[in-house]
Amino acid sequence: MESPFKADVLKGKVALLTGGGSGIGFEISTQFGRHGAAVAIMGRRRQVLDDAVAALRSQGIQAIGIEGDVRKQEDAARVVATVFKHFGRLDILVNGAAGNFLVSPEDLSPNGFRTVLDIDSVGTYTMCHEALKYLKKGAPGKEESTGGLILNISATLHYTAAWYQIHVSAAKAAVDSLTRSLALEWGTDYDIRVNGIAPGPIEGTPGTRKLVPEEMKSKTREFMPLFKLGDKWDIAMAALYLASDAGKYVNGTTVIVDGGLWLSRPRHIPKEEVKQLSRLVEKKSRTSPTGIPSSKL
Ligand SMILES: NC(=O)c1ccc[n+]([C@@H]2O[C@H](COP(=O)([O-])OP(=O)(O)OC[C@H]3O[C@@H](n4cnc5c(N)ncnc54)[C@H](OP(=O)(O)O)[C@@H]3O)[C@@H](O)[C@H]2O)c1
Repeated sequence: MESPFKADVLKGKVALLTGGGSGIGFEISTQFGRHGAAVAIMGRRRQVLDDAVAALRSQGIQAIGIEGDVRKQEDAARVVATVFKHFGRLDILVNGAAGNFLVSPEDLSPNGFRTVLDIDSVGTYTMCHEALKYLKKGAPGKEESTGGLILNISATLHYTAAWYQIHVSAAKAAVDSLTRSLALEWGTDYDIRVNGIAPGPIEGTPGTRKLVPEEMKSKTREFMPLFKLGDKWDIAMAALYLASDAGKYVNGTTVIVDGGLWLSRPRHIPKEEVKQLSRLVEKKSRTSPTGIPSSKL
């Protein structure tokens, strides 16, 4: 689908995306690039980065891939420094790196729980911490009064409760909390906007491939409020909105892009039955307790 944004909304900007070599992160990298940004992608697998960079460059996008693990502070520091060295500035940090797998709490060791928090929550914090000196207003390569942007990719699992994902729910709850606290503190002190995006189930991603078995996908569509899964494009468009001037007054918000799924409840009474019930109630209310129609009283 064609983007509704002008092709130059991110012209001159430099974005670093953790997890930018695959799935949702790669689509955001692509759309940022198509809208004028130079992109750096970070991940642990060299081959994934190389393939992604080749695909981006084939579209005329300036791109580099840097190996690194968000759990390691020295990797985070090296990666942001490399981006600055290569492009001369850093404007946007997207924290998309995450780990996920289905497991019941009784089978999840505290170590497994900790690993996901280490990647999603501590990793997000570490990347923000190391990127601050390049993102803040007046940083090298940046204007005196204009800071950059942080976008944290979250989820909706923790808004209610999610089966078999206690680790990710806890991790993303922490991510949302980081988004709000950093928005307050770094918005005020450094003119850095900090926002999040909470995707619902997104078609064609490693996430849904791992978590929603193929045979469940058609059923999933049936109970979605819009009868469809989201596309990676939907998340990338939300990211473009927040990263461009269109979102210049948005700070501390996590935009939910899930088609309304997290609000949805099963419809226990068919719609026709509700209509009949309300017609009955209406009829009764037009009749007084004496049985004489209220209009004749
Ligand atoms: N897919 C969905 O339906 C869905 C729904 C809600 C939220 N989300 C969120 O959206 C984001 C992307 O999900 P996705 O499904 O598109 O999955 P994905 O492509 O598997 O995203 C994970 C990415 O993070 C990187 N990564 C993982 N651990 C890392 C580490 N320690 N250091 C650096 N990079 C690391 C991975 O690359 P390496 O393995 O090479 O490091 C990979 O590129 C995630 O934050 C996820 O929680 C997705």
